[in-house]
Amino acid sequence: MEDSIELILQDYAGVFPTSRPHPIVSACTGALLTGLYGLWSVFTMPGFRKIPWSLMVPYLPSSKEQAQNVMKLLEGRRGRLADLGAGDGRLVFAASSVGFQCTGFEINSVLVAYARSKACWRGIPSSQAVFVKKDLWKTDLSSYNNVTAFLAPGVMEVLAEKLLKELPQDALVISCRFPFPNWPQKSTVGSGLDQTFAYEISSVRSHLRNLQKTEMK
Ligand SMILES: C[S@@+](CC[C@H](N)C(=O)[O-])C[C@H]1O[C@@H](n2cnc3c(N)ncnc32)[C@H](O)[C@@H]1O
Repeated sequence: MEDSIELILQDYAGVFPTSRPHPIVSACTGALLTGLYGLWSVFTMPGFRKIPWSLMVPYLPSSKEQAQNVMKLLEGRRGRLADLGAGDGRLVFAASSVGFQCTGFEINSVLVAYARSKACWRGIPSSQAVFVKKDLWKTDLSSYNNVTAFLAPGVMEVLAEKLLKELPQDALVISCRFPFPNWPQKSTVGSGLDQTFAYEISSVRSHLRNLQKTEMK
């Protein structure tokens, strides 16, 4: 019986190799992974050194469908628009093409340079779209009546506080993928990862005021 098990194992030796990979192969794989991580962080992380870990949001571009959902929610609106974390500028370009005066705030200098060159290449004037390399948490948003954000679930509560403090009463806020906790939605478009939510700041403020009143009773 023991003999037969050994024979079986010998038969399968080619299918399940038991020997360890060659040290050079391991070293090369390690170096390749480290290089890829380095490359990824060069494009996704510059500017993040001064931002607390809990507020870090990596780059992930909006899908075509998500951008279309944002545009649907912006229908009937006009004026100034701030895109918080503008990435390569795709939401800014979409909104500026229908007449918004857009500012894309972005912390990653590589993405800012890329978005600016795209704007230049497309001949979009700075009266329609500008990209500012700035930390959104240190940016005064009081002059914007439209705000778009595709960030991360962990920052939505902090962002909600900031927007409530700074935005004018007629502002509309659009959040991609991640809803604001405790804010009543005006409307939502799409589903799954492309779902997009719209909030009227005036309604949010009055909802929160009423909530506070009922809690005090
Ligand atoms: C999920 S991506 C969205 C990019 C773009 N808005 C889009 O929809 O394709 C989030 C972006 O926010 C930027 N970001 C993260 N933290 C930021 C901060 N504190 N200030 C400005 N931009 C920030 C990231 O660099 C990244 O480009």
